[in-house]
Amino acid sequence: MDLSYGAFPLLDITKPLSFELDSAGILRPFQQDKRIHLNEMIEYFIYKDAVYDVLRSGRNPLIYENQITEWPSEEGLINIGSTTIYPGEVGGEFYHNRGHYHEKDNTCEIYTGVKGEGRVIMQKKDGETRILPFEPHDVVYIPFGWAHRVANIGKRKMSFMYASPANAGHNYGPIKEKGFKKILVKKEREVEAIENPFF
Ligand SMILES: [Fe+2]
Repeated sequence: MDLSYGAFPLLDITKPLSFELDSAGILRPFQQDKRIHLNEMIEYFIYKDAVYDVLRSGRNPLIYENQITEWPSEEGLINIGSTTIYPGEVGGEFYHNRGHYHEKDNTCEIYTGVKGEGRVIMQKKDGETRILPFEPHDVVYIPFGWAHRVANIGKRKMSFMYASPANAGHNYGPIKEKGFKKILVKKEREVEAIENPFF
């Protein structure tokens, strides 16, 4: 097995390892910290006018960050990491990560809530949708074939840990093209799941 992976510090994954989920919900050690701002998420929010209004005003808010520990995409290995989604909304749609299907259809995933208040939005390619509450100590099982996205519906940062097969891969294409069938929006003080008019 070739254990080299890009330019990041290597963890010896042939040996038992211990990680720490810190008080901010960050899994350590991590190899890469990806920060995704609004200008990298334009296709993933429904209300483009609102997105462009924010960007034209000179702001480019941080939407989420992802601490990755990644090793060869070999069957039998597991990738783990943490994600923090910032609080906010654009055009009423709550901030969320991009969301994806897995490239390898028969792979599942586990999410564990660490901080904040969110929802996991899951859907199959035929549009069947499930939206589950996602708070600290919630463990959410994502079956194979279901796309998954997490939205922060609270006023504070929302963090979770994920674990999925290292050979799962990410398929963002269908999400980038038309989004999720349901989106979460702020209606007065309530959270409402509405139909995506472009799906
Ligand atoms: Fe996934």
